[in-house]
Amino acid sequence: MSRRRLIYEGKAKILYEGPEPGTLIQYFKDDATAFNAQKKGTISGKGVLNNRISEHIYTLLGSIGVPTHFIRRLNMREQLIRQVEIVPIEVVVRNVAAGTLSTRLGIEEGTQLPRTIIEYFYKDDALGDPMIADEHIAAFGWASQDEMNEIADLAIRVNDFLCGLFAAIGIRLVDFKLEFGRLWENDYSRIILADEISPDGCRLWDMSSGEKLDKDRFRRDLGGEAEAYQEVARRLGLLPEGEANAVLDLEEHRAKRGK
Ligand code: TMP
Repeated sequence: MSRRRLIYEGKAKILYEGPEPGTLIQYFKDDATAFNAQKKGTISGKGVLNNRISEHIYTLLGSIGVPTHFIRRLNMREQLIRQVEIVPIEVVVRNVAAGTLSTRLGIEEGTQLPRTIIEYFYKDDALGDPMIADEHIAAFGWASQDEMNEIADLAIRVNDFLCGLFAAIGIRLVDFKLEFGRLWENDYSRIILADEISPDGCRLWDMSSGEKLDKDRFRRDLGGEAEAYQEVARRLGLLPEGEANAVLDLEEHRAKRGK
């Protein structure tokens, strides 16, 4: 049996050739990195949880008419997705000051922003993903003005939906990162949501305690990162009470048997 073709390996995911043209398999690793991979580690079971959480969110977004690359989950760590041409821009949506916004502008973490802010970063590891302005995107041709209008509209729709989804389970959506891709159909392309939405790329704070339920636990050496990701999955109704560990134990067991 021939091994399937690896298309791209990133820091937290691997893309393999899909079963049909125009599809890919997205594999979620347990690897975690921060600060442009200067800090490296693993969060046990993270890939399984992110696969499930992202499936859930993309399915809900699809049901409200947000076009996404998600087709279906294949197994614990893999999902089938549509192949797109990734727009080389990380789109960060912020509702509350935190992270680099706080350090860059001296605004205390946790300050509610007067309005939602969208920031753009150029996807280039060698440059450390620098922040960019609309002007750079237009001047260097990374995306057209129409595409950027579409991206900003979709980002706001995703934010409105996710704020409600998380508020309903006692979580404050502080900020998150999105990536978009071009889906080509003949000579035309349209913008769809790509990548993943999971605690790796969101800041999620418990509404009453303020406890961090996201990758900042890893970035800031707070500990308890696997439990935090499990808590998000549990509140989303993806891990019936008491089954969180059972799911991860089963996965470990399978891995040991080499399946
Ligand atoms: P920042 O405050 O570090 O700029 O991050 C803003 C949000 O974007 C936060 O939720 C984490 C997410 N993010 C990523 O998903 N990938 C990245 O490479 C970075 C820098 C941030």
